[in-house]
Amino acid sequence: SSGYITYDPGFMSTASCESKITFIDGDKGVLLHRGYPIEELAYKSDYLETCYLLMHGELPSKEQKDEFVKSIMSHTMVNEQLKSFLNGFRRDAHPMAVMCGVVGALSAFYYDSLDNDNPRHREISAHRLISKMPTIAAMAYKYSVGQPIMYPRNDLGYAENFLHMMFNTPAEIKPISPVLTRAMERILILHADHEQNASTSTVRLVGSTGANPFACIASGIAALWGPAHGGANEAVLLMLDEIGDVSNIEKFIAKAKDKNDPFKLMGFGHRVYKNFDPRAKVMKESCDEVLSELGIQDPQLELAMKLEEIALNDPYFKERNLYPNVDFYSGIILKAMGIPTSMFTVIFAMSRTVGWISHWMEMLSEPHKINRPRQLYTGHTSREYVPMDKR
Ligand code: SDX
Repeated sequence: SSGYITYDPGFMSTASCESKITFIDGDKGVLLHRGYPIEELAYKSDYLETCYLLMHGELPSKEQKDEFVKSIMSHTMVNEQLKSFLNGFRRDAHPMAVMCGVVGALSAFYYDSLDNDNPRHREISAHRLISKMPTIAAMAYKYSVGQPIMYPRNDLGYAENFLHMMFNTPAEIKPISPVLTRAMERILILHADHEQNASTSTVRLVGSTGANPFACIASGIAALWGPAHGGANEAVLLMLDEIGDVSNIEKFIAKAKDKNDPFKLMGFGHRVYKNFDPRAKVMKESCDEVLSELGIQDPQLELAMKLEEIALNDPYFKERNLYPNVDFYSGIILKAMGIPTSMFTVIFAMSRTVGWISHWMEMLSEPHKINRPRQLYTGHTSREYVPMDKR
């Protein structure tokens, strides 16, 4: 509280950059966005207010928030030509493939008159991406199920509009349940930013070359797709399906501990958290809340809670400080909301767009050089070319 964060010199040498956006204390399980604990934002804020905070550094006044929401919600449509771009994909293409392709293509539609070096233009690019990601995410889903694309409605809230585009059809338009809307807002807040994770570091590296923001965000989407990163939420559900029953848990725990078996307990462990991921705690509370409000008894929730209990009491996991991360419970809520597993990482990408673009804006607002990691070379020393007849 108005103190200073101090680091030991050893840590300082490993840091890849400086940032004022998000602070994580992995040992204590602390996550702050511009100094505000994630638990406060998850229960008291909404996603667009959190976007404003991440991008601008302070919570908005009423006027600032109204203006920001209006700016985001009045650019939710995408160029109609992107529908024919979508038709180039196979119907069974993974929605992450569609999102990656379409977001990269936005460069051709929305960037020709913007300039990375102009702060106002950077803000416009950020707004366009935040505006259009839900529309693109929902388009990817509708395309995969062969339904007509639902246009956005600017009179709805951010999460509500996304669920409208996901679940309504031209033949039947129903109001979106406030339970689902509140759950989606919380899920979006919990995934919004997370310091220098793999995908955010990717966006910063690509951004340091001067690439346009739409191409940068497409690179972040590609990085997030991996099962070791954002793809884990989908992998948790597939893992719970495979475990099937509480009686199989010990077998899978043994597999996770077996160094000869590549299987890892999905949704467990973290590069930084060596304590509970604070987002996982909120996600678990929301799980109970959403399932009881929807009147759903999901055996997979019981299975996940039993798996967590057994793993947390197992010496292998305790010695290695392996705890559930943000992905462990998110899939169960999304499934209860009727979202297919193929869309879990798409929703993660939709939310994390604000984190990626906030870091991109922060980096470009300060003097910076192209990011160029070095390596330790372990290959051959110099040697002569060998003609083919001597090989
Ligand atoms: C996200 O970086 C971020 O901030 C990411 C993220 C974000 O918001 O952007 O938080 C989102 O990506 C969360 C992580 C989602 N991924 C998963 O849930 C996949 C399952 N988790 C593992 O793949 C793993 O935990 C990682 C990839 C997340 C981290 O792996 P590390 O770097 O190997 O972790 P570590 O150094 O703490 O591992 C210590 C030991 C190792 O064994 P030993 O060599 O000491 O014998 O624990 C083992 C690891 O092999 N281990 C696991 C394990 N995670 C680590 N063993 C079994 N199951 C696991 N899940």
